Amino acid sequence: MTSSLASFSSSPNAHILLLGMGGTIAGLADDPQTAPDRYEAGRVSVEALIEQAGVSLPSGLKVLARQMANIDSRNLSELLLTRLGNEIKQSLENPAVIGIVVTHGTDTIEETGFFLHAVCGNRARELGKRVVLTGAMLPANAPKADGPANISDSLRWVASTSEDSPGGIFAVFAGKVCLARDLAKRHTSALDAPLQDSLCSPIRLIGPSWLASVREMQASAGFDLAIPAETDWPWVEILMSHAGARSDSVEHWASSGVDGLVIAGTGQGGYHQSWRAALEKAAGKGIAIVRSSRTGAGPVSLDLAQKGDFGTPSAGDLSPPKARIALQLAIHSAGEAKKIAQTGANYLTWQDFFARIAVLPEIR
Ligand code: SIN
Repeated sequence: MTSSLASFSSSPNAHILLLGMGGTIAGLADDPQTAPDRYEAGRVSVEALIEQAGVSLPSGLKVLARQMANIDSRNLSELLLTRLGNEIKQSLENPAVIGIVVTHGTDTIEETGFFLHAVCGNRARELGKRVVLTGAMLPANAPKADGPANISDSLRWVASTSEDSPGGIFAVFAGKVCLARDLAKRHTSALDAPLQDSLCSPIRLIGPSWLASVREMQASAGFDLAIPAETDWPWVEILMSHAGARSDSVEHWASSGVDGLVIAGTGQGGYHQSWRAALEKAAGKGIAIVRSSRTGAGPVSLDLAQKGDFGTPSAGDLSPPKARIALQLAIHSAGEAKKIAQTGANYLTWQDFFARIAVLPEIR
């Protein structure tokens, strides 16, 4: 199945919104010919990137660019996620916006992709609009810069009116498209690093099985979570289990004021037995604890009772950084639900919210 482009001349203000967040795609190397890998991310404006991409769109369709930030994404903050999420949520409701492309650093693009999927994926699907995250592995002035092709592919996918182009939150790299929820950077330098291990389709030849799996995943999403205000994000840390792990690290975090902990466990999401008592004590104090895996692929088992776990929820197939975002959103949503519930009434807990965003897509 091939994608097609429509004419948008009937709506004079129709445009694609291009939001710049920074990253290598906006990076510059001092000596691009001999050392393209020595560069500073976030130095080129998003307006300049669109010019460099030189994309030709259907007649009547414009691209409006807005610089949200220009950072190396290792410095991504929750404050920026809130601003980006709110901008996208509002823009989706604007009839003149036919879709949105976000240029982003690849180092933490999986966090942003998962966040957007959780807070506005459902609405984008209902409206039939696509939000596409993209970036690059080579800086803008490298001889074989991959950013221009990634931007051009993203804009075309957003503008496509083919029925092979459903609404939702996606990512495009190296000629491939995947659900943004599935992003996970698994290589330090490969051009397709952010989606190497994801379920993808070639962008110019959308595969029917990929499309079916996208629709199935989206059908299980059901609802969007609230976006926390800039300073309202719960504090959640990631704790990796490893050989020689000591209870001291769990005890340290349990007394820090943290709201939640994501265990980056071994194998199926297990952890060192030296952590068991300290983790159970932390959970007893009200710290939200979930299990993910440090392996890099595959789901975490739902129940690890046989390995001595005391019932910590599984993060499904979410990587530790994505599980962290999911837990932050779940704790925040549960707090909001509690505020509005009548005294004595039942309300959804963080475990309920977390299971819906992390585990339901796995057990559907
Ligand atoms: C970044 O994440 O901002 C730098 C690395 C990249 O974009 O590939």
